Amino acid sequence: MPSARIVARRGPDRPPETMMTAAAMVAEFDDVAGWTADAVRDLGDRYAIPAACRGSASPIALAWLAEACELSRGMRLLDVGAGVGGPAAWAAERFGVRPVLLEPMPAACRAASTLFGLPVVLADGRWIPLRTASVDAAWCLGVLCTVEEKASLLREIHRVLVPGGALGLIVVVARGKRLRRLPDGNHFPAQAELDALLGDAGFEVVEQIDRPAEVPRSWTRRAQEVAAIVEARHSASQAYALAARQTSRLADLLDDGELSMQLIHATNLGSTA
Ligand SMILES: C[S@@+](CC[C@H](N)C(=O)[O-])C[C@H]1O[C@@H](n2cnc3c(N)ncnc32)[C@H](O)[C@@H]1O
Repeated sequence: MPSARIVARRGPDRPPETMMTAAAMVAEFDDVAGWTADAVRDLGDRYAIPAACRGSASPIALAWLAEACELSRGMRLLDVGAGVGGPAAWAAERFGVRPVLLEPMPAACRAASTLFGLPVVLADGRWIPLRTASVDAAWCLGVLCTVEEKASLLREIHRVLVPGGALGLIVVVARGKRLRRLPDGNHFPAQAELDALLGDAGFEVVEQIDRPAEVPRSWTRRAQEVAAIVEARHSASQAYALAARQTSRLADLLDDGELSMQLIHATNLGSTA
């Protein structure tokens, strides 16, 4: 089992409870994270990456982002809102990058650390405890819609990324004007709002595509086997019910075309607008 290394850092003047207030989000991103790591430990290492990708990242989506960002061996990749760490572990395994994971949920940090042995910083992405221009590339996958202060988050990523450095994003974009039955605590940007946020934070969008639909069956099967164990063990709990409701609301909105999942490659222009 890889060794755990978690560095705990928080924003300078905010208590941790203001970072994420919706109980359903804590259930989804913290409780389920810990349960997922437990189930992976029982099933084996082959299950870890598919089960630990919780931002709807598939190997095809990750490969698109990695190629777009020109990831290569030895590059320092910061994954903001890294969750259980699947995408960063995938990038380390396939592209030889040196990831640093940043994640505000303690159980998710522990899960990522024990599953993959990668360095994890317990912190809020609006206050990243890293030096200016200290990472070569950054990913932020499925995170923006869970953060109300998107501008602060993007500006912090811009600060720690080297000028000219690549940012890979997965963003759930609102297509309709008035979305019904939103997952608790989520704020989905419209495309124009997202464009303005990225531009104001000092990023230039190089390319954007719809998330590729194809996912290899072997990947889906492993993720589903882990999810089935989590369900069997925890379906009676309130946290499980809350997290499941979040997932099904998001799936319904995506199925109805009210939301769409976008992959974005942007670069740090070196100065903010
Ligand atoms: C949908 S999950 C995606 C996890 C991971 N990026 C992946 O693709 O598997 C969203 C993640 O964003 C994290 N998050 C929420 N608010 C955040 C913030 N202010 N700063 C950094 N991460 C945040 C959540 O804790 C959660 O792990």
